[in-house]
Amino acid sequence: MWKGLIEEYKQYLPVTENTPPLTLNEGNTPLVHLVNLSKELGIELYGKIEGANPTGSFKDRGMVFAVAKAVEEGSKCVICASTGNTSAAAAAYAARAGIQSIVVIPKGKVALGKLAQACMYGAKIIEIDGNFDDALNIVRQVSETTAVSLVNSVNPYRIEGQKTASFEIVDGLGKAPDFLCIPVGNAGNITAYWKGFKEYNDAKNTGLPKMFGFEAEGAAAIVKGEPIANPETVATAIRIGNPASWKLAEAARDESDGIIDMVTDAEILEAYKLIAGKEGIFVEPGSAASLAGVIKSVKSGKIPAGSQVVTVFTGNGLKDPDTAMSVSTIDLISLKNEEKEIREYIEGIL
Ligand code: F0G
Repeated sequence: MWKGLIEEYKQYLPVTENTPPLTLNEGNTPLVHLVNLSKELGIELYGKIEGANPTGSFKDRGMVFAVAKAVEEGSKCVICASTGNTSAAAAAYAARAGIQSIVVIPKGKVALGKLAQACMYGAKIIEIDGNFDDALNIVRQVSETTAVSLVNSVNPYRIEGQKTASFEIVDGLGKAPDFLCIPVGNAGNITAYWKGFKEYNDAKNTGLPKMFGFEAEGAAAIVKGEPIANPETVATAIRIGNPASWKLAEAARDESDGIIDMVTDAEILEAYKLIAGKEGIFVEPGSAASLAGVIKSVKSGKIPAGSQVVTVFTGNGLKDPDTAMSVSTIDLISLKNEEKEIREYIEGIL
């Protein structure tokens, strides 16, 4: 049986004999060959389904380790700023570890499912009239002078946990892919993946991918070369104007001979519908940014035909039902509670 990240990957993580065996059996997520999109795009495309983690996003990989280390250090309370997924993961692992969580979120800009999770896992939820960047500044300052452990991705244990996704991809394919495509918000995850690929290559000579990161156009600080005061995008998960790991993301790009590019909300929503409709995989809009980036890069020739590409689907589509219903073009058919009427309707469309 899969034992969760800390146990499975302890040789690659700074685990000590005092690290508690915290887990919700995170990790070991599916790497799905996207057969229909591969054919359409002329590449060999795989999706890493991080929405299959216990709280429905990749954040569980980093959070299990950050919370375990906080407990190891004697902490009774973790704190984070979040666009939603980090808060869900922090609240879940804190609940599991028997400690308190406090989350600070931008009012009105967190998808409903994520908010429901934080409520159910018992977080103290503070909403502010500000964006993620404001919230992160505040929790960074508060955690310096109070007895709370900061579990945003500026906490190095988050990066350690999240790098394990690269190990799983390499193990699944037998080597690193040619391209690794990933959405970029606060830029912790692209940093973590690159660290993971490098460490596995050092240990096992498995090769390195080109790292292709994608920001949403209205929040594309790295692409535009300056912080964005009022970031805006339909992909609320990556609605971030001043990424904390900006420099590390640029290092991942430059060391791997990759790119950091941006995709429009229209491209994100197109990819969001495509991955559900063509492959049966429901991701949240922030996750669809990476597929939008793959499509853009194939069109521009930056990803050549025949390449092996992994795109990371960072979060589950169920987290954001409002966006799904707002883009859906499906009409509900309202019929009588009668077999005859329903049969006639079905025969009519066959
Ligand atoms: N995809 C999803 C679904 C996310 O929730 C995030 C970040 C990202 C991508 C970007 O990852 O920040 O490491 O570059 N969500 C954070 C949060 C900010 O608070 O849940 P990143």
